[in-house]
Amino acid sequence: MEIRKSLVLVLSFFYLCSSCFATEVTYDGRAIKINGERRILISGSIHYPRSTPDMWPDLIQKAKDGGLNTIETYVFWNAHEPLYRQYDFSGNLDLVKFIKAIQGAGLYAVLRIGPYVCAEWNFGGFPVWLHNMPGIKIRTSNDVYENEMKNFTTLIVDMMRKENLFAPQGGPIIIAQIENEYGNIMGDFGDGGKRYVKWCANLAQSFNLGIPWVMFKGWGDRDPHRTAEDVAFAVARFFQYSGTFQNYYMYHGGTNFGRTAGGPYISTSYDYDAPLDEYGNLNQPKWGHLKQLHEILLSMEKVLVHGDVTHHNYDNLLSASVYSYQGNRSCFFGNAEGDKEIDFDGKKYKVPGWSVTILPDCKTEAFNTAKVNVQTSKMVKKQGPSGLKWKWRAEHFQHVKPELEHTFEANQLLDQKFFNDTSDYVWYMTSLDVKEGDPYFGVDTVLRVKNCGHILHVFVNGKHIGTRFAQNGKFKFDFEENIILKEGENLITLLSGTVGLQNYGADLATKPNGISGPVELLANNEVALDLSRTKWTYKVGLMGEERKVYSDYRRKWHGNIPTHRMFVWYKTEFKAPSGKDPVVVDLQGLGKGHAWVNGHSIGRYWPTYLARKDGCGSCNYHGTYNPDKCVTNCGNPSQRWYHVPRSFLNKKKKNMLEFGGNPSQVNFQTVTIGNAYANAEEGKMLELHCQNGKNISEIKFASFGNPQGSYGSFSKGSCESSNALSVIQKACFGKERCTIDVSEASLGRTGCNSGVNTLAVETLC
Ligand SMILES: *[C@@H]1O[C@H](CO)[C@@H](O)[C@H](O)[C@H]1NC(C)=O
Ligand SMILES: *[C@@H]1O[C@H](CO)[C@@H](O)[C@H](O)[C@H]1NC(C)=O
Ligand SMILES: *[C@@H]1O[C@H](CO)[C@@H](O)[C@H](O)[C@H]1NC(C)=O
Ligand SMILES: *[C@@H]1O[C@H](CO)[C@@H](O)[C@H](O)[C@H]1NC(C)=O
Repeated sequence: MEIRKSLVLVLSFFYLCSSCFATEVTYDGRAIKINGERRILISGSIHYPRSTPDMWPDLIQKAKDGGLNTIETYVFWNAHEPLYRQYDFSGNLDLVKFIKAIQGAGLYAVLRIGPYVCAEWNFGGFPVWLHNMPGIKIRTSNDVYENEMKNFTTLIVDMMRKENLFAPQGGPIIIAQIENEYGNIMGDFGDGGKRYVKWCANLAQSFNLGIPWVMFKGWGDRDPHRTAEDVAFAVARFFQYSGTFQNYYMYHGGTNFGRTAGGPYISTSYDYDAPLDEYGNLNQPKWGHLKQLHEILLSMEKVLVHGDVTHHNYDNLLSASVYSYQGNRSCFFGNAEGDKEIDFDGKKYKVPGWSVTILPDCKTEAFNTAKVNVQTSKMVKKQGPSGLKWKWRAEHFQHVKPELEHTFEANQLLDQKFFNDTSDYVWYMTSLDVKEGDPYFGVDTVLRVKNCGHILHVFVNGKHIGTRFAQNGKFKFDFEENIILKEGENLITLLSGTVGLQNYGADLATKPNGISGPVELLANNEVALDLSRTKWTYKVGLMGEERKVYSDYRRKWHGNIPTHRMFVWYKTEFKAPSGKDPVVVDLQGLGKGHAWVNGHSIGRYWPTYLARKDGCGSCNYHGTYNPDKCVTNCGNPSQRWYHVPRSFLNKKKKNMLEFGGNPSQVNFQTVTIGNAYANAEEGKMLELHCQNGKNISEIKFASFGNPQGSYGSFSKGSCESSNALSVIQKACFGKERCTIDVSEASLGRTGCNSGVNTLAVETLC
């Protein structure tokens, strides 16, 4: 989840302070320095297009409350320049507003301009028109590419500079990034790659910003689930070994609205199991556990960034690290094995397996990554409007018709990227004159289409004869179906669809998309005709997209909806659920399509696409992280609930495009905390909370002593305080949040005579 800051620092400049608000940013071998002081930077990625402007202040505030001092974002070129020199910085693409929101919260910003971003984002953030420029080679030494990269990068830098957003101007941006994750593909480009990296560094230098520029090295794949304990372990270990700049990728993952998801088949949700969930709720216990870690690390900042460090290795994977500075000492005990005991300064400390203990004074354990002393929230979905009334319209089929506008002709099969990715869909149409004597006249004929798109719908003479999509995340498949050709002119119409363009790898731009061919007719198991080089007529997109039926309420829609029919637009109207909790729409029952609410795209959906069945079950996070360790949702739709940001809900109408399925089960829900549990050690302060104006309505369980069991199945132990339940009732019942001092002084004597008391509590929101 977190990117290790193995930074390759390319350049840095001194800025001569000319304004009293200016911030000087430099660095040395140990840390980034702000106004001459080495700092610990705890940063989290929040990508502005993956939420909405009215979510930004809340997300940023929750990041700050979670102990972050820095927010990092990429800049998404293809979102800002979808068509050549036509820019969009409106709505959730308002980068200046986002950086100002960070500034408003008093946090630093790291701006990763890229322009390559990876990020499971469509085509890695590159506009597809860029790929279509004559003579271009992306991400290597090439004039056409470098001119475009310079043009866009300059635009962003100038925009930030004009608004005084760089640190030397008094703004929050302390670090900028050029290129991204290049290290792992540079070799593929040979000398061109090396020249390109130098060119990037020179470009960065030419902006003369007075802040350090960095290039980030690569990281692994997406993370399905990583426990709070394991993330905390990785972060604490990084600081144990003198790290000073940590970034969470992601701190808030959010949503791939519109067609922004990378591919193929990256889901619309980009939740990432991040400390803030897709909708902006606190993901507890992760958020709270990391908050405690951040606060302790920042309290030790001076000693960590200036101190001399010594590491004592007890065992291969068991170590004590001592930082000393001006008579103060701070310690870490790291244990990458099973449960262990450490003898340190004549005192014995238990260190649980796969954990780091932090002792700010080298005597008292203030934090251990394996001991979670914060609330775990169980999120629930509450029913909103259901029993929706639906109307429908059929998608207008397009076949080769001379009067059709905006078509394109070529005597070859074109890659779908040729059309600049302005829609997921491209129609490929050709006609064929069948006469007596042709090998496929009057015999069983098979149409075979070799495909590198993700979905293919095939029509012969206007009749739908089949649909295929690439299975198991692959993107190549063959379509084969028996067809009947009539004498005379026959129309073959292929509708090719993509589900996100590749976002990663040196071959990103060269991997084919769409109908790669050949397209053949087979008679008697032999190729009778190759249609690949006949005249093809192309048309981009669906008629409904062109006419924006999803935001036009005046058109005629029909009642009596058909189900399990393809190429249908459905629409309904609904009342926005009350309250402030995030809203989702459950699309169970639908096929594959794209949904809009009041003209805002909430993304592609595909609930019939099921996740793998195996691998769920118990989860042991000990040991090196691997994404197969802790997985959930086996065998379920890869995504069933889709986020509808509250700012999309004004006109209280909804429209969606649907390709096969049944909308009768579709309903709206809100996402909130159902119940909350915690198991906190004596000596801690435990905060319990609901959210968005809901109060704790019941204390279902509370025992202070040696309670047994785990979350959801607590039971009393052999000893407990008789007051704990009533103290907690009084402190928490009817309140949105409450803090409990977990001590005998506050909760009463337990009479337990061994070890530390713990408080187990379960509440209902
Ligand atoms: C970017 O290109 C446009 C022409 O398409 C040009 O007007 C503009 O000056 C260029 N910007 C930079 C910074 O070179
Ligand atoms: C050393 O610790 C003392 C007591 O906690 C604190 O007041 C002081 O600021 C610390 N000095 C440094 C340099 O961290
Ligand atoms: C794709 O974009 C390029 C650059 O703007 C343009 O020249 C080309 O005509 C576009 N292609 C299509 C098929 O629209
Ligand atoms: C929650 O409690 C507060 C007082 O603590 C009260 O003002 C508010 O009305 C309560 N909310 C609900 C939904 O009961």
